[in-house]
Amino acid sequence: MSVALRAGNGKITVPDILSRKSSPLDKKRKVTCLTAYDYPTARLLDDAGVDVLLVGDSVGMAVLGYDSTLPVTLEDILHHTRAVRRGTRRALLVADMPYGSFHVSVEETIRNAMRLVKEGGAEAVKVEGGERRIELIAKLVEAEIPVMGHIGLTPQSYNSLGGFQVQGKTPDAARQVERDARAVEAAGAFAVVLESMPRELAARITEKVRIPTIGIGAGPDCDGQILVFHDLVGLTIGHKPKFVRQYADLAAEVSRAVAEYGEDVRSGNFPSDAEAYHSPGELRGIAPAPQRS
Ligand code: KIV
Repeated sequence: MSVALRAGNGKITVPDILSRKSSPLDKKRKVTCLTAYDYPTARLLDDAGVDVLLVGDSVGMAVLGYDSTLPVTLEDILHHTRAVRRGTRRALLVADMPYGSFHVSVEETIRNAMRLVKEGGAEAVKVEGGERRIELIAKLVEAEIPVMGHIGLTPQSYNSLGGFQVQGKTPDAARQVERDARAVEAAGAFAVVLESMPRELAARITEKVRIPTIGIGAGPDCDGQILVFHDLVGLTIGHKPKFVRQYADLAAEVSRAVAEYGEDVRSGNFPSDAEAYHSPGELRGIAPAPQRS
């Protein structure tokens, strides 16, 4: 069934996300967002009532084993977006524009974003960058592609920033982040991710802009929150940022289950007779075929 046909049955849409901020009734309902990269995760998160599923380019680090998000391609995002689309009924599905997919020209950006919508089933795209993306975001919106902005720490700027650092810590830097937020809003984005910045700055931006702010490492005053799913459930290998709250330890659970499976196979405890298929009665007792000499 198409996404459009499902709309109206609790399906989260772009206007719904906007109204969380603009409508007095919805004002207190924070927007919950998580990353998802595959079908079973999408189904679980969608059934659990998460509002927005983001096929983030964080897939590069969380799943594909890269050191940064820079190697992730449009084809990677398309592949994962299709899988998440198949598992998503209610949540708004947002696909990340990976590094290189929106840096060459406006025309190429629109073509790439349209592929995410037409071939991947995304309902919106996310674009990193503030003031310098005004024209790009406006053109995408003009082409009927809703845009989620992303400012503060933008992981695709890894090389120019010299690493992953908290942004907006000096008065000048904070003013720039505020300008970025206003630019993204003015360009027509329906929401903006605020990543790794002081709580006070995120709170000020949240107060000033009319679109919902979605925080990650930006404190509790944003209109919504996003986390990388693998961080939330303890499947992240390596560094875990300070802002992550880990709600489960799936890595430990997987290790335990796999160790137990290994012991059972080696001891002959798995599979049991009940876990085996059996021949029909008349075939029982038939002598095995003679071995060729
Ligand atoms: O790629 C991603 O997952 C993101 C979120 C963490 C905001 O950009």
